[in-house]
Parts: sequence; C-alpha cells; structure tokens
Amino acid sequence: MKQSSSVDLREFASVDQAADHRSLFRALDEGKTTPGMRLVQADLTDELRLGSARSVLDIGCGLGGDVREMAARLPPDGTAVGIDASHVMVAEARRRTADYQGAVRPSYAVCSASALALPGNCFDRCRTQSVLLHLSNPQAAVWEAVRVLKPAGRAVAFEFDLGTAVLDHPDRPTTRTVLDYVADAAPFGWAGRALSRLYRKAGLADVRTHTRLVPNDYAFFAFTMRRPLARLVRDGVLSPHRAVEWLHMLEERHRNGDYTGGTTGFLVTGVKS
Ligand SMILES: C[S@@+](CC[C@H](N)C(=O)[O-])C[C@H]1O[C@@H](n2cnc3c(N)ncnc32)[C@H](O)[C@@H]1O
Repeated sequence: MKQSSSVDLREFASVDQAADHRSLFRALDEGKTTPGMRLVQADLTDELRLGSARSVLDIGCGLGGDVREMAARLPPDGTAVGIDASHVMVAEARRRTADYQGAVRPSYAVCSASALALPGNCFDRCRTQSVLLHLSNPQAAVWEAVRVLKPAGRAVAFEFDLGTAVLDHPDRPTTRTVLDYVADAAPFGWAGRALSRLYRKAGLADVRTHTRLVPNDYAFFAFTMRRPLARLVRDGVLSPHRAVEWLHMLEERHRNGDYTGGTTGFLVTGVKS
C-alpha cells in the first residue's frame, strides 16, 4: 500500500528517532489550521486567562507556536518558556523564533515532561496540548506541571481521546478495526477521558472539563491514516485489497462532499492550591 505523503503519529513519542521530521512538522502545522482546531486554540487561549500572568510554560511545545503566542500577550517583564523532549523540535522552534519581534523573547529547552529541569513554584500558567497521549506515564508529567506552577497558578491541558473517533464510512467492521488500532497504538490513546482524573490526583483544585467534537478534514485524515493502514496490512489484520478499498470508499465519500470525521477533544483546567 502506498505510504508516500503520510505521517505516523506514534513517532511523536520519540521524534528524534523518526526518519522524516518534515512530515511531523507538517502534521503539527496543518493539524492546527483546520476550522475545528482553530476553535480549540481559541478555547485554550481563553482558558489560560493570560491577563494577569507574567510567566508561562508550554510542556511538549513542539514547533513553539503556542509559546510565541503566549509571549505576545505578556507584559514586557514576562517569561515564556517551551520545553520538549525532542532536540529536533526545539531546534525548529528556535529557528521559527529567530525573527520574533515581541518584547518577551520565548525560550526553549530540551527536557522530559516527567522530569522538568526547572525550579518549583515559578510559573503562573502551564499548558500542555496533545502531549500526554504520547507518554507512558502521563501522571508523572502532570505532577511535574503542578510542581513548577506557583500557588494559585493555573494548569490547562488539551488532549484528544482517540477512542472517540467517529467516521462516516460504509464499511463499519473495517472502520472499527482501523480506528481501534490507531487508538491502541498510542501509549495513552484514551488520554482525553483520563485528563480530569490525572489533574485531581495531582492535587489541582477547581478542576473543570470542556469537551468538543473536533471535526477533521479528509486530506488531513488520509495523511495520518496511510501508515497505520500499511501496518495493519503488514501485521496480517487487513488484506492489502481491503485496506485499499477502505481508503477508496472514503475518498469517494469525500469526492461526493460526504466526508464526516472527527475526534472528541478534552480541555481540562485546574488551579494549584
Ligand atoms: C503532537 S506534538 C504536540 C506539540 C504541541 N504541543 C502542539 O500542540 O503543536 C507532541 C509533542 O510532545 C513531545 N514529547 C513527546 N514525549 C515527550 C516527553 N516525554 N516530554 C516532553 N515532550 C514530549 C514531542 O516531541 C512533540 O513535540
């Protein structure tokens, strides 16, 4: 099965080992520009309540766009930091920040979400987006976020729950197989539904959850599906014919203007007491 122009989302767990970093960059860039994700970005910005913040941290910052956006909203003596486990991501975030003109200069560091190389009690806000689903111990990352927040600091996280993916496809059995396979391939594919529990367990107060079905578009969905489909074929779960047919049927729905797909996203907020 043809895999060109595709990304394997599992590679976000260890970006530096991935063969094709450009595809991962593209997935992040394009993934944030769909109409559904624009609404999520706006919700995240609202929930961060940056008005009174001076110091912000983005854990698993990827290409750094959210750090730059937060930096632009801080007072001139503010601090905006992004950390990521990947040297490749941090290098790209720094490259994209080279001509940043704002008063607060974003900074980036390589470190693990579960062992932040940062002192405790130093950030007013801490955000995490689409990171915990790639971690084998997401609770450790939430504990760390709480540790580095100042008392009364605010934590905000957004995670998809891959177990809630919906797709209007005529072949229901194969669709179930494919979507379950994708959800189970991520280290913590059901991150969304677990998020408020992780927050409460880490001692955060006033934990609130907002959910939203985030529609995707056909081009992006196909971009993220070809590699999992190839793995399903390689593992003998689907025949090559069935995999190709499944994708063709989806393409046909898209051509007829009938593509509908999406996944529930969970946005959770909490306050350090
Ligand atoms: C899907 S990307 C999301 C990036 C960014 N938050 C965004 O919304 O565009 C996941 C990011 O988490 C990072 N990551 C994966 N495991 C990590 C870990 N243990 N600690 C810190 N970052 C990690 C990856 O390198 C990647 O940049």
